[in-house]
Amino acid sequence: MPTMLTDVFRGHPIHLPHSHQPDFTSLRELPDSYTWTLKDDLLFAAAPSPPATGENIPLIDLNHPDAANQIGCACRTWGAFQIANHGVPLELLQGIEFLTGSLFRLPVQRKLKAARSETGVSGYGVARISSFFNKQMWSEGFTIAGSPLNDFRKLWPKQLHLNYCDIVEEYEEQMQKLASKLMWLALNSLGVTEDDIKWASVDDSDLNWAQSALQLNHYPVCPQPDRAMGLAAHTDSTLLTILYQNNTAGLQVFRDDLGWITVPPIPGSLVVNVGDLFHILTNGLFKSVLHRARVNQTRSRLSVAFLWGPQSDTKISPVPKLVSPVGSPLYRSVTWTEYLRTKAVHFNKALSMIRNHKEEE
Ligand code: OGA
Ligand code: NI
Repeated sequence: MPTMLTDVFRGHPIHLPHSHQPDFTSLRELPDSYTWTLKDDLLFAAAPSPPATGENIPLIDLNHPDAANQIGCACRTWGAFQIANHGVPLELLQGIEFLTGSLFRLPVQRKLKAARSETGVSGYGVARISSFFNKQMWSEGFTIAGSPLNDFRKLWPKQLHLNYCDIVEEYEEQMQKLASKLMWLALNSLGVTEDDIKWASVDDSDLNWAQSALQLNHYPVCPQPDRAMGLAAHTDSTLLTILYQNNTAGLQVFRDDLGWITVPPIPGSLVVNVGDLFHILTNGLFKSVLHRARVNQTRSRLSVAFLWGPQSDTKISPVPKLVSPVGSPLYRSVTWTEYLRTKAVHFNKALSMIRNHKEEE
């Protein structure tokens, strides 16, 4: 029997087949349980793509004087963008990539010592959204929520885990600052200021109003990538997600008019996704981007997702300024906790569950 776990940050249960964690490296052919077809995921076969236009999410230089508007525009049209000159030291990005690589290279038995517990959030396990799909995903993950010390101790002997804890702590601190900066740049582009959102104080340098988790992902090389899925299509339940990907393509974002677009890895840059809570906060102006990860036959891929949102009990509702004077807010107010509970049941339909339908009645 697989163990059922709940991932607080995406809010869905996780299957963790303790006894038969696949040994990805030894497989020559895709097992049936990993072979995806259209009926496993309506979005899988990506409705016939319109002719490639070469369009992609923008790369935004945070030092550019017009950065706020560019970010606002990207949040409205794509729900995603890449950033350069973000101020996160390259050594830190290399550090977190090295840590992620060494974690997933550990023998399966060792990784399972830090398996997510029945009730816990953090630790090692397969893709969190697995329970919503009939087929398995070609990936493994490790979630860090709070201090990773306990889990890292189980994975690495002696002092090594302490260095790794330092890297995680430093990475999270830098990401917190960056995420808050990005949120305010995006909001300012809509004319929203601190007076409009009392819970997200710009002055609170400790960012006590926010919380986060880190999701480390590994997509091993795959014998038949066209029929496999690294991580199925989903939106994040965050305000913002900041994703670091190693130099291997795999992340794709969906646009109704363009289909699936592969986000090219740009060394040193970071990908930013608008999450469901930001969509709610902006009364639907910013798009929470549908995205997924594909795999390939020659290179394994690593990614580190920084999942960022408000404190659990903060009520998030559309900023009044962004609601038309004659209309009503598109969404009712929710806390992150409430939203995650909805997502755990309704998955990709969660947003529509909290939508106000008054106008149509
Ligand atoms: C995630 C995610 C994409 C990737 O962890 O939520 O979307 O490229 N990851 O790993
Ligand atoms: Ni995601």
